[in-house]
Amino acid sequence: MRVLLTGSSGKVGRAASAALLAAGHRVTGVDVARPVFDRPEPGQAAYVQADLTDAGDAYAVVRGHDVVVHSAAIPEPTQNPPHTVFANNLLSTFNVLEAAVRLGVTRFVNISSETVPGFFFPERPALPAYVPVDEEHPVEPQDPYALSKHFGEQLMDAAVRRSDLRCTTIRPSWVQTPENYARNLGPLLADRSLTSEGIWSYIDVEDLADAVVLAVTTDLPGHEVFYIASPDNVGGRDLAAAVREHYGDRIEVRPLARPDASGISCAKAGRLLGYRPTRSWRDHLDEQGRPLR
Ligand SMILES: NC(=O)c1ccc[n+]([C@@H]2O[C@H](COP(=O)([O-])OP(=O)(O)OC[C@H]3O[C@@H](n4cnc5c(N)ncnc54)[C@H](O)[C@@H]3O)[C@@H](O)[C@H]2O)c1
Repeated sequence: MRVLLTGSSGKVGRAASAALLAAGHRVTGVDVARPVFDRPEPGQAAYVQADLTDAGDAYAVVRGHDVVVHSAAIPEPTQNPPHTVFANNLLSTFNVLEAAVRLGVTRFVNISSETVPGFFFPERPALPAYVPVDEEHPVEPQDPYALSKHFGEQLMDAAVRRSDLRCTTIRPSWVQTPENYARNLGPLLADRSLTSEGIWSYIDVEDLADAVVLAVTTDLPGHEVFYIASPDNVGGRDLAAAVREHYGDRIEVRPLARPDASGISCAKAGRLLGYRPTRSWRDHLDEQGRPLR
């Protein structure tokens, strides 16, 4: 299929581009980042620079594609002013989706976020009601990033209501690459007293890219939301014991697929998308959080 991949210069975009090309799709990458005016490497995705907060740019790049994977965003709320995060993320999602509806795209893969329920960047304390967090968890965002992602998911609901477009939302957990495993997860292994907003969940970028490929080719109707997380937690903790130790009875522990389960459930993605993650932090770090190589 002809796939438009927004945010293609980013962490997720680069891995998704490689996975989509390997799966045989024709990929056009789009990002606000400058193009490189060298001859493309063989098999590399085409690239167009565009600012997707501009509707004209969005229409220009969406035209001619069967599927859109929308990964472009400011990926957290602390390093830009709040209105910039909110405006960039929500307006770019609106523009790309609007162009997709009008130009006959058949499927829209919306990269949303684990932060949508509201307990990652809250101004006032918030915890998950239960673990593993799943797609049924209440959604009560406080910050501009989670709000932009929550409203983005609502735009998907509206798109399937008003057109034949089908939408798949992916809520990735905290994305880890071979380059950042030690920096991000190392401290959680070195110091077992540290907690994490995602209740020690994470996602390997290659497993996430595999989920994107599944989302591109699924024939699910309407708009479905999926958490995508690695099945184990950082450090292989006994999740039930760790939650009791750090949170007492403030977080309910529901039945777990395995003792070292992630704080986020990807069971729905397994059932409906055939998502079968194969990577782990253990491929990159030792038990103390030091890089294996
Ligand atoms: N990194 C994580 O841990 C994480 C977790 C959950 C969800 N996500 C989501 O995954 C997606 C990708 O995140 P990432 O980690 O690759 O971030 P990233 O910052 O590495 O990549 C995002 C890319 O989007 C581009 N972009 C931003 N605004 C744009 C605009 N208006 N027009 C065109 N391009 C624009 C940026 O230039 C960047 O290259 C985002 O939607 C993010 O919210 C990321």
